[in-house]
Amino acid sequence: MHILLLPGDGVGPEVIQEARRVLEAAAPALSFSEADFGGAAVDRHGTPLPADTLAACRKVDAILLGAVGGPAWDDAPRDKRPESGLLALRSALGLFSNLRPIRVPARGIDFVIVRELTGGIYFGQPRAYESGRAYNTMVYERDEIVRIAGVAFREAARRQADGHRGHVTSVDKANVLEVSRLWREVVSAEHTAALGAPGIALAHMYVDNAAMQIVLRPQQFDVILTGNLFGDILSDVGAALAGSLGVLPSASLGAPGSVPVFEPVHGSAPDVTGTGTANPMGAILSGAMLLRHGGLPGAAERLESAVDAVLEHGPKTPDLGGSAHTGDVTDAILNHMKATAPVS
Ligand code: NAD
Ligand code: IPM
Ligand code: MN
Repeated sequence: MHILLLPGDGVGPEVIQEARRVLEAAAPALSFSEADFGGAAVDRHGTPLPADTLAACRKVDAILLGAVGGPAWDDAPRDKRPESGLLALRSALGLFSNLRPIRVPARGIDFVIVRELTGGIYFGQPRAYESGRAYNTMVYERDEIVRIAGVAFREAARRQADGHRGHVTSVDKANVLEVSRLWREVVSAEHTAALGAPGIALAHMYVDNAAMQIVLRPQQFDVILTGNLFGDILSDVGAALAGSLGVLPSASLGAPGSVPVFEPVHGSAPDVTGTGTANPMGAILSGAMLLRHGGLPGAAERLESAVDAVLEHGPKTPDLGGSAHTGDVTDAILNHMKATAPVS
């Protein structure tokens, strides 16, 4: 399996370097290359997603992405912003679903946010910034809702086989937005149609209440299905349960045959960049999702249990209340992995 690394900006390169060390230990048969992306690519090539980078992305088995953006590019025009490169990459590769698992075993928290990734208000037309007036359009086509609902119901069924409840909470704002009314109708219809996956329950929840419920009673959730913007916000809310945004992984997936992107949920964290204390766990766990998707579930599990052990016993970076450096956390994860190495 060949992996393209897109380290990006800020702490991106710092955490991707650590994820690579762990992946090399977990699955020695992997090979790696690297390409310019984000603000780093704006500086070198004048665009956040150079044609060479996109061409390289299309040729590999999977992509591991760090983070993009930062104060240096905040005032650039939209097409020269690192974030636009990320959206363009997701769109070009057809990665319409973003899975963001949130697990805090000690508190019985274990749910996954299934976020629609290539539609909604992030991509809707028309959009414009004019003088004294600006607007965006939140739009979903029926087919876009059908395919992301399918991902959520299949994910619930897969998790149910692993002992979870088989419960999907679809989150919208149907009391105010037409786009959410369609969302709710289509998700309900898909649920009825998908009774080939029996025993999967569906509930609808307004996004404002969902934000509160995630904080107050996170144990009630199994699979959360939602749109692009709500999913972005709710995953950072969920990160607070885990204690830090730095520990959350994600997988961005398309139709079978698409090149998947694995990326931590966090951004470039300008406030900790260069301190050597970025938490590498989100990137490392994204690597575990990559391994599982690539047909190496044993290696993925070894890596995840090693991260769990380090979360429990330390060392911890400052975002989790410790004083360890990035590399210390990786070293500890590698040590735990050695202790559980398969005898070969
Ligand atoms: P952020 O995720 O970069 O940081 C939010 C907070 O979480 C900060 O206090 C930061 O220090 C902390 N944090 C995040 N990751 C951490 C890690 N690995 N270890 C320790 N602490 C960590 O969000 P922001 O500050 O709102 O955005 C900064 C930049 O990143 C912006 O340019 C934004 O557009 C971009 N961004 C990119 C992505 C991405 O590439 N996927 C995601 C979110 C934000
Ligand atoms: C994320 C980020 C991105 C998003 C930005 C940087 C475009 O916040 O991946 O969560 O909003 O999708
Ligand atoms: Mn985000």
